[in-house]
Amino acid sequence: MIEHDANSADISAQLDAIQSSMPIRIMDFEIEPDLVIKALPEIFPAYGISMTLPYLEPYLVRTMREALKHCTDPKVAQQVRQFIGQEAQHYRQHSVLNDMIRNISPELEGLRDIEKQLEADYQRFTKTKSLKFNLAYAEGFEAATFAGGRLNFQNKVFDRLESIKGSGLLQLFLWHALEEVEHHAVTFNIYDHLYGDYLYRLVAGTYGQYHFFKYVFLFTKFIAKNAPQALERGRALWPSQNLTGDWREQFSLLREIARVYAPNYDPSKIRLPDNVAHHSKMLVEQARAIRKITA
Ligand SMILES: [Fe+2]
Ligand SMILES: [Fe+2]
Repeated sequence: MIEHDANSADISAQLDAIQSSMPIRIMDFEIEPDLVIKALPEIFPAYGISMTLPYLEPYLVRTMREALKHCTDPKVAQQVRQFIGQEAQHYRQHSVLNDMIRNISPELEGLRDIEKQLEADYQRFTKTKSLKFNLAYAEGFEAATFAGGRLNFQNKVFDRLESIKGSGLLQLFLWHALEEVEHHAVTFNIYDHLYGDYLYRLVAGTYGQYHFFKYVFLFTKFIAKNAPQALERGRALWPSQNLTGDWREQFSLLREIARVYAPNYDPSKIRLPDNVAHHSKMLVEQARAIRKITA
């Protein structure tokens, strides 16, 4: 549960503004290939997530572009445009990181087989599934990343990752998590606007979460088994607690994801952690440019 801070009217106003603005930050991250190797034992599950994004996020963008054609609410339509702009930046940055991950060792070229399977799935979904299904999938994914992202900020996970402290690699993950938190209500709002079918969202969204996390697991397992640097350290198959938190944090993540299945779930009503406003502002200052999409 996100704690409410009754004394922070300023932060509250800033958080409301964040939810409505969703700036598209064009970022430059300097990432040393050596650091990608060095950080592997601590953060390799994050690499597993990164590998999915150049396939998942273009699929989300295709889905949202299609949804825009049917959207009659100008406010929701503008949110969708900002969402598309943010997601389109995310996967470009992660593609650069993923090239470095594959370059860690020759065995990791084998990741491409899983990448091909994932891309084939998403192309098939776009071509053969209904917009309702694809939007419910998108919301299933976004609801899970919103839960994970806001807990990362609440638990200050980005402050405790020792191997990437102060680096461009940390900035990449922080920027992405922050924008996921910023645009957390958009897929829910457009699905609600076009369909509003709770039970269908529940079923297709749960399938979406299963499908996405299955691939995260496949990528993560492959990296952990095939990166010699991880194997040497003897903890390749056991993620660092700096990343995952202790059992209380893991339980709270499950609890937050479970909230998504409640009939009264509405992400726009969930209070964001207070430090989100600080990071949002800092990242606007660090951006090379801010893009605003207009109708
Ligand atoms: Fe994203
Ligand atoms: Fe997202």
